[in-house]
Amino acid sequence: MTEQNETINLMMKHTSVRNFTEEKLSDETVKTLIEAGRAASNWKNFQSYSIIVVKSQEQKEAIFHYQPQKAIKNCSHYLVFVGDMNRAEKGVALNGGDFQPAGIESLLISSVDASVAAENVLLAAESLGYGGVMIGLIRDQSEEISDVLNLPNYTYPLFGIALGKPARLNDVKPRLPYEAVVFPEKYIEQSQEVIKEYDKVQDDYAGARRIGSTWSSRLVDQWGQAENPSSTENLKKKKLL
Ligand SMILES: Cc1cc2nc3c(=O)[nH]c(=O)nc-3n(C[C@H](O)[C@H](O)[C@H](O)COP(=O)(O)O)c2cc1C
Repeated sequence: MTEQNETINLMMKHTSVRNFTEEKLSDETVKTLIEAGRAASNWKNFQSYSIIVVKSQEQKEAIFHYQPQKAIKNCSHYLVFVGDMNRAEKGVALNGGDFQPAGIESLLISSVDASVAAENVLLAAESLGYGGVMIGLIRDQSEEISDVLNLPNYTYPLFGIALGKPARLNDVKPRLPYEAVVFPEKYIEQSQEVIKEYDKVQDDYAGARRIGSTWSSRLVDQWGQAENPSSTENLKKKKLL
């Protein structure tokens, strides 16, 4: 890499943090991180997402009850990113329009907006010596999590970020080779060889922490079966599909 500065170095050092010390972020710091997140680009400046700041142990436990990942319970703050067309409904009604949010495009708009903001929040946290992990598996209990958070029609939970002071930092996780992901001018379909090679890279990275499955076998866990219907059912209930 030729060009380097503090920002790029910070980005290159990213690792997800799942173990936190007891230290809590102040409300002021959390607000600063979220404002940094909200400064991100978003579709037509519609800002089609909301963020629920979960700070109380009671509410963390309520989410953990459905999605038992330790980071949710042990973090300082759990920020839930919500795809949000609810304010759009109000704006359309204000103008006497016919609100038609159901469909894939609204979901892409709101989920991309939320994701762009979320990455900004996480990077801002990392820049202050905090860390965190995004937790998307809350979508496996989409309806239950929506109830816990009191989410209205035209909204849906996307993922949370568990934030806190890192108890320890993992080594940076190697990505796929640049050439397997970034193509000059036109798409270049990759061979199974690339996958095989990356399985080895991931095994080496995991070392003693290997969990007995390869990177590509985890693709089977994800895509070797029909998807969990939880999000689809909840999106229908919330009038977004
Ligand atoms: C949208 C999204 C959802 C994620 N959901 C989870 C999750 O539910 N549990 C978890 O432990 N990690 C989750 N992760 C973290 C990824 O596993 C992690 O970013 C990836 O393995 C790369 O590792 P790194 O962030 O340490 O570089 C999620 C990441 C993203 C972007």
